[in-house]
Amino acid sequence: MMKQKEIPFSIPFINEREIKEVVKVLRGKWITTGSEVKRFEESVREYLDVSTAVAVSSGTAAMEIALAVNGVGPGDEVLTTSYTFASTVIVILHRGADVVLVDVEDRTFNIDAEKIEREIKENYEMTGSGLISRKSKKRLKGIIAVHFGGQSADMKLINGIAEKYNLFVVEDAAHAIGSVHHGIKTGKSRNFVCFSFYSNKNLTTGEGGMIVTDKNENEQKLRMYSLHGISKSAIERYKNGLPFYDIVFPGYKANLTDIQAALGVIQMEKLERITELRNRVANWYNHYFKDVEEISTPFIKEYNSSARHLYPILISPSLRQRRDDFIVDMRSKNIYPSVHFIPVHFHSFYKNFVNLDGKIHLPVTEDLFSREISLPIFPGIKKSEVKYIVDVIKDSIVRFR
Ligand SMILES: Cc1ncc(COP(=O)(O)O)c(C=O)c1O
Repeated sequence: MMKQKEIPFSIPFINEREIKEVVKVLRGKWITTGSEVKRFEESVREYLDVSTAVAVSSGTAAMEIALAVNGVGPGDEVLTTSYTFASTVIVILHRGADVVLVDVEDRTFNIDAEKIEREIKENYEMTGSGLISRKSKKRLKGIIAVHFGGQSADMKLINGIAEKYNLFVVEDAAHAIGSVHHGIKTGKSRNFVCFSFYSNKNLTTGEGGMIVTDKNENEQKLRMYSLHGISKSAIERYKNGLPFYDIVFPGYKANLTDIQAALGVIQMEKLERITELRNRVANWYNHYFKDVEEISTPFIKEYNSSARHLYPILISPSLRQRRDDFIVDMRSKNIYPSVHFIPVHFHSFYKNFVNLDGKIHLPVTEDLFSREISLPIFPGIKKSEVKYIVDVIKDSIVRFR
């Protein structure tokens, strides 16, 4: 097989329109949070038909602010998945709370609602002051559900559990702008839904994020948390009256700039197209892998439409030991796949900081991780490149069998 030119894991879908808009901001007088951020927030708010959209500096900041507004602090526990980027867990630790990890479903990589309920029933007691852990005596306050790879977690079940036990839900939708769940766009929810616009995300502003919700009574607090807890934004202080302000509580410094937002406004206009193109690429992969027994392609539930942020394949258990060799083979052929995710409980920060080394075992998470490879997926990848990637994998299978 002829070696092709490099196929990276992801390439942003940016063209002259974004460049022009960013240059326009740079030529203007105001480059930090201002009118472009407002436009960007408004376009996301309208697209999702929600009451509130607050732009922030990253998906991580969005989640940390969402936890803060939900009142998470020392003495609390938050339940989530280990099959995620570590920031989902780090934000809980930053709030001084403890993390409870629950295993995922075996086909979607998403947190398993049944296992959430089992964990609660086995280890918690409902008291006058909420769900209290029989082991730690701390209070379980909420759940962070991650929409892995662009497919929504089972929010009907998860929201149902949250209601039953009086928990909040934060949605880590870093991968999921453009996805649809039970006919509703991910983001249209009374939970805080946190998007990431990191450079490889479906919609990018280089770095950036947004908290959206249909619960508008929280907007002012979200905004204040994103800017030190200041009572007035920089542009309000600049434009209206005297430059004084009050700091009501110690918030974060997590605002988005107009430079980034200008990019986001154009990316929002392209979002439907981006989602369509990513789904087209996923369908090419599905087609070329159709008869390849050793590879499982992503499973999408019938009531979900995925934003296809990732294309995670699973190699058969018989070839588990060769997962890394598949990656080495691809790299030697100029293909740059990735692995999502190294489970959070495998990282030393987690083992050492939370002092759980060897004490936590999540069989489905660990099995999936040992067999997963994320293949390049982005709007501009060609059909011939997808075929080449699949052919390289097929060659490796023949050698590894
Ligand atoms: C599942 C998940 N959650 C959260 C984040 C954090 O987003 P950000 O990099 O914008 O902070 C990422 C990735 O970047 C992610 O993949």
